Amino acid sequence: MWSNFYLLFILYWNFNYINTNENEFHLYMDNQTLCNQEIIYLKNIHIGRIYSHIDYHNKYFYFPDNHCTITIQTKKRIWMSLEYFQSNSSSSFPRCIDGKYVGNDDRLQIIDGYKNGSILRIICGKDTDKYFDRTPLILKSSIFTIDWQTKSQSFGFELKFILYDLAIDGQCLNSNQFQCKNKRCIDKSLICYDEDYCGDKSYENSLEKNSQCIMKIAKQKTIHSYLIFILIIFCCCCLFVCILICSLKICRKRSKNKECVGGL
Ligand SMILES: *[C@@H]1O[C@H](CO)[C@@H](O)[C@H](O)[C@H]1NC(C)=O
Ligand SMILES: *[C@@H]1O[C@H](CO)[C@@H](O)[C@H](O)[C@H]1NC(C)=O
Ligand SMILES: *[C@@H]1O[C@H](CO)[C@@H](O)[C@H](O)[C@H]1NC(C)=O
Repeated sequence: MWSNFYLLFILYWNFNYINTNENEFHLYMDNQTLCNQEIIYLKNIHIGRIYSHIDYHNKYFYFPDNHCTITIQTKKRIWMSLEYFQSNSSSSFPRCIDGKYVGNDDRLQIIDGYKNGSILRIICGKDTDKYFDRTPLILKSSIFTIDWQTKSQSFGFELKFILYDLAIDGQCLNSNQFQCKNKRCIDKSLICYDEDYCGDKSYENSLEKNSQCIMKIAKQKTIHSYLIFILIIFCCCCLFVCILICSLKICRKRSKNKECVGGL
């Protein structure tokens, strides 16, 4: 009985392990527990994503009249890129800059440092998803502030940030890091994903990616086949026990009628 539970637990745990993308950190700008709080310190994280709202993934609109500021501090360098942005403000993009950032617009501000730091990008305006500046942002500090203010509703934004170190004397300090051509050292686990976390497509078709990721995939496949094996054994055992119980019951009925073979 207990061993069955144990098996189920192991199965559950392992499947969880396969499905989660380790170290990716998600944060939502309509989470009132996070908004307008003190600094958030991130440790042991290599990549994060910030979304305008929790329902972003379901393609629901964000809520109007939300103002959220979040400041994140890490121990590494940061570069980020805005993957998607669509707001629903009445003004066009240039007015959003001229208005000294106090208009009635849905507006995203990305600041290098604390709230008082230098503004790296301000995005607002209707349907800016086609026109906004997609060039990556390289931060000077290891702190950044995101300020998101809404008056109306639309699809919102997705912002990706990647933590890295810089190679010193052509070497990454940590052996768990992959050195990009642009001298950034990112965590090796990142190069197995299809996205470009270096920012310069360094590991596309690279030898290191091939060896590193084939091993990783093989490892997952081994775990996978191992799990399927356990599952099959488990099912067989259950089936066997069922058959045994059934045949015993049938046998008992029959033995009352003195017809059971084998003397059971
Ligand atoms: C909102 O933020 C709190 C505090 O960090 C966190 O515990 C919670 O999981 C967040 N909720 C969602 C839906 O992300
Ligand atoms: C900005 O804010 C931080 C923290 O609140 C403070 O330590 C720093 O001195 C401020 N910088 C300026 C230029 O005001
Ligand atoms: C944009 O905002 C207006 C009014 O603020 C609203 O009526 C409209 O439904 C919104 N459109 C979208 C796509 O959010």
